[in-house]
Amino acid sequence: MVANKEMCNMAKRIILVTNIFFQYFVLTITFCTHIQPSVENGLTTNYSHRFLASIPKNVPAQTTVLDLSYNSISEIWISDFRSLSKMQTLNLSHNLIRELDFNIFQCNETLEHLDLSHNHLQTASCHPITSLKHLDLSYNNFSDIPLCSEFGTMLNLKYLGLSVKKIQKSNFRFLAHLQLNTLVLDLEGLSEYGSGILVFNTKNLHIIMPSNSDFHVLSDLEINATESLDLSNIHEKHIIDLCTFLPNGNKNASLLNLTLHNIQCDWKGLMYILQTVWESTIEHLVISNGGQMDVPETFKFNHTDTSLRSLTIKQTTFTTIYSEPTPMYRLFANMNITALTISDAGLIYMLCPSQYSHFKYLDFSNNSLTDALFESCNNLTLLQSLILQRNKFKNLMGVSLMTSPMKALKYLDMSKNLLQYKDNRNKCHWGENLLKLNLSSNMLSESVFRCLPLNIQILDLHSNNILTIPKDIMELRALEEINLASNKLADLPGCLQFRSLRLLNIEMNSLTSPSSEFYHSCQSLKELKAGHNPFKCSCEIRQFINLQRKGLLKLVDWPGSYLCWYPEVLRGIRLEDFHVSDIICNTTQLITVIVIVVVAAVALVFFLCFYFHIPWYLKMIWQWTQVKRRNWKSHPEDHLNTLQFHAFVSYSEHDSEWVKNVLIPNLEKEDGSIRICQHERNFVAGKSIVENIIDCIEKSYKSIFVLSPNFVQSEWCHYELYFAHHQLFSEDGYGLILILLELIPTYVIPARYHKLKALMAKRTYLEWPKDKSKQGLFWANLRAAIQIKLPKNEEIN
Ligand SMILES: *[C@@H]1O[C@H](CO)[C@@H](O)[C@H](O)[C@H]1NC(C)=O
Ligand SMILES: *[C@@H]1O[C@H](CO)[C@@H](O)[C@H](O)[C@H]1NC(C)=O
Repeated sequence: MVANKEMCNMAKRIILVTNIFFQYFVLTITFCTHIQPSVENGLTTNYSHRFLASIPKNVPAQTTVLDLSYNSISEIWISDFRSLSKMQTLNLSHNLIRELDFNIFQCNETLEHLDLSHNHLQTASCHPITSLKHLDLSYNNFSDIPLCSEFGTMLNLKYLGLSVKKIQKSNFRFLAHLQLNTLVLDLEGLSEYGSGILVFNTKNLHIIMPSNSDFHVLSDLEINATESLDLSNIHEKHIIDLCTFLPNGNKNASLLNLTLHNIQCDWKGLMYILQTVWESTIEHLVISNGGQMDVPETFKFNHTDTSLRSLTIKQTTFTTIYSEPTPMYRLFANMNITALTISDAGLIYMLCPSQYSHFKYLDFSNNSLTDALFESCNNLTLLQSLILQRNKFKNLMGVSLMTSPMKALKYLDMSKNLLQYKDNRNKCHWGENLLKLNLSSNMLSESVFRCLPLNIQILDLHSNNILTIPKDIMELRALEEINLASNKLADLPGCLQFRSLRLLNIEMNSLTSPSSEFYHSCQSLKELKAGHNPFKCSCEIRQFINLQRKGLLKLVDWPGSYLCWYPEVLRGIRLEDFHVSDIICNTTQLITVIVIVVVAAVALVFFLCFYFHIPWYLKMIWQWTQVKRRNWKSHPEDHLNTLQFHAFVSYSEHDSEWVKNVLIPNLEKEDGSIRICQHERNFVAGKSIVENIIDCIEKSYKSIFVLSPNFVQSEWCHYELYFAHHQLFSEDGYGLILILLELIPTYVIPARYHKLKALMAKRTYLEWPKDKSKQGLFWANLRAAIQIKLPKNEEIN
């Protein structure tokens, strides 16, 4: 007590000195950041395994759980946590902290869990944090008990972890006031032990035994209300202490659970412990990490009545190389307890109990058991759970026959074996009440569906070699959950054989385009886990996506695990973000739409053509450009000197009105820059008409013929001769302009007019448009064709 006071005073003095050195912190102590605590939305900030040397400055102020475990932090300051007024859990385990001043946490009024285990703490100040429920200071370098008697006021404390190097009688007195649930006492580095009575009254007590096996802590231990005792690092020398300590009669009668971890002993020691426990009031015994034990051929064990209900032996190898193992099998098989676990023990066999057994739970996982286990074994009628995970079973049918006499068996775990079902002719016979079967991580193919318990409700078949689910299998009416993950299925199975299926896991298979049709038969299906498949993002997948969109089905892990794999350009895109319109996917719709669009476009073109006379305009523009081109190519200057007129016009008497009133005024209308030779106006008297015409033609740059049915019948002959003579219709028809005033039906043209017919056929004429709006272009075209600078013109101008 005096020593404690002194230590506490010293700690106070240290704080004072620290305060002087770090005035900044003193000031800030009074300015803790207060944020109204709202516990509901806790924020967990994880900085574990980050190689941090100090506490980060940017920890969010909302943080309620701060994990800083596994770093290299050696010092902590009040400024590190001042702003974290909502912090409830702080994990600083596995760091390098040497000193602890509990004052650091004075701003963290809600702090409940503080884990400082696995550090280098040597001293701790004497300032109890009354809000703490969980304080772990185990695995540190404290030489004395790090907590002074003031810590007796931490009435909320339920869990306390301590490590101590020196134990004096009075050390743990302050604990008497606490209402601890769990006390972890790390005595591994114990170097001074003043033996005396160690009294604890926590419900759970965990002692890490001193590595110095001369300290007989267990002989001094007295527990009052302890129900569970965990002892770690038990030396051979402690076994007698342990066995003397174990409850017997009224002594330590509260103890129900004993866990011995990391125990150094041989088979004889184990038998000693087992027999003592067997005769004590303990109900559950766990022995783990017992190393390797050679099993002798003869040993004694008394299977008297016992309070023991469950025995677990883990990570303890029994070797029977030099001896007959049957006595050891008999020892375990004939235990009249309800639960037995022997795992990681190298077992290659186990006997069938020699009489009706009490076993309800058997766990022989991680051994080397084979198909010979429990063959024709009729004494396990109460067995409900059988766990044979990670053994060497090969024959599924043999396993089914093993279970058939186990009338109470509900759960069988055969995962991680080498099971196959090849023998299709022999029928499987399963225990009739088997509801849950784990066949994961075996070598089963689709034939497994011909060897399943009829009433099975939960079936795990993940990590096998299943390619399809055969259609002709028997109905599993009760099946509610099936796990087919990590197989090679290419499509979703229907539920015709599994009408009650609620949960289907088909992750990590080969689904590319899962059809949505399966859903029609799966009306009871609620959840589908189908992520991590190589989905092909095309039209077919839309219906599958729609199952989720319409809320018909819950896709587990949607959307993060559902990604496109094909086509490659879409690889990695979430199915959620893959959109393709209905029209593209529906062929008939697509064709209809294309036809409608094409028809509409054609109709529109036709409409535009007829409404705006586009073809006519195009033709005129074409002709105009042809004329321009020809003008540019030829060199009319050579014969310009003989020309007096731009054009000669020839027409039928019947069309003279149009020529005089329309054609000539329109061509000549401006300033006489265009001159027209007209036979009524410009003909020379005394010459014959033909001579006059030829004269006129020769003096004109171009000849314009106004064609109409009348013209063809009455006038054409006048020119035939001349045309034949002068080759006016040379190959390109240069010099000749035909205006079609009215349409001339071909039959009107006399057969002998070959030239005319040829010209008409070539359509090298200008059509006179009746439509006023088009006439402007007509005139422009015509003018362009006859436009030329005549020498006389120049003289005139
Ligand atoms: C602290 O972290 C260690 C290691 O991650 C973990 O075992 C321990 O339970 C954590 N403690 C608390 C109080 O969360
Ligand atoms: C089947 O066993 C494996 C381990 O072998 C386990 O991960 C899985 O959860 C078990 N399945 C069920 C349905 O319990």
